[in-house]
Amino acid sequence: MTIDPLVTERLILRHPLDAADGTVLRQAGTEALALEFTRIFADPEESRYMHFVPYPYSRKDADGFVNFLEQRADYPGQVELGLYLKSEPERVVGMVSLESIDDSARSAELGYWLRRESWGLGLMSEAASALVAWGFRTLELQRLEAWVSGGNERSLGTLRGLGFRDEGVLRRAAMVKGVLRDRIVLGLLREEWEAKAQA
Ligand SMILES: CC(C)(COP(=O)(O)OP(=O)(O)OC[C@H]1O[C@@H](n2cnc3c(N)ncnc32)[C@H](O)[C@@H]1OP(=O)(O)O)[C@@H](O)C(=O)NCCC(=O)NCCS
Repeated sequence: MTIDPLVTERLILRHPLDAADGTVLRQAGTEALALEFTRIFADPEESRYMHFVPYPYSRKDADGFVNFLEQRADYPGQVELGLYLKSEPERVVGMVSLESIDDSARSAELGYWLRRESWGLGLMSEAASALVAWGFRTLELQRLEAWVSGGNERSLGTLRGLGFRDEGVLRRAAMVKGVLRDRIVLGLLREEWEAKAQA
């Protein structure tokens, strides 16, 4: 699903195939996007804990991801937003998403990544917090969950900072870049988010 851009203190969150001026990117724009994805995922640390992102990451992988974003842009069960620094509004620095949006359970899954040179600045906390608030307010969700590979302490820190609680561990459930890792699930209920927002 395509939504209006979300604006935070330092970031604009918009669908990566919408240009900064709101028009849909044409071929030159999608090529620049694929090049940026290729550059970001050339760093093995970026996808170390993500089983669904290949490494080495080729231009073909990036083109496939851009195609996926194009095809899924109007899909109702998913929101994909690129992160753009207000100071550099044309260049994607990460993504945050809501997937598996379930209308009857009013739940969804949060996912995200950020280019490595921007880690440690609180940018994902800022971006994810805006999308979480949007999900609870606009989609009237009652639950969000996120799945993290064991060892991904940065991501666990981001989620716990947002108020997510540890809910369970599937032990050695995923093969990630040749390493068997636990799958940890964290959840955030609507009332917990409301209590945190009011605190
Ligand atoms: C997971 C990931 C997004 C976390 O990035 P991050 O920059 O650490 O995340 P946050 O935005 O929560 O920032 C927290 C860091 O910013 C610092 N920070 C600075 N200002 C801050 C602020 N205003 N608010 C929160 N944190 C702030 C924190 O101290 C912390 O730094 P530290 O870990 O050095 O102590 C990033 O590591 C990543 O993209 N990894 C690869 C992809 C991935 O694994 N995705 C998740 C799959 S489940």
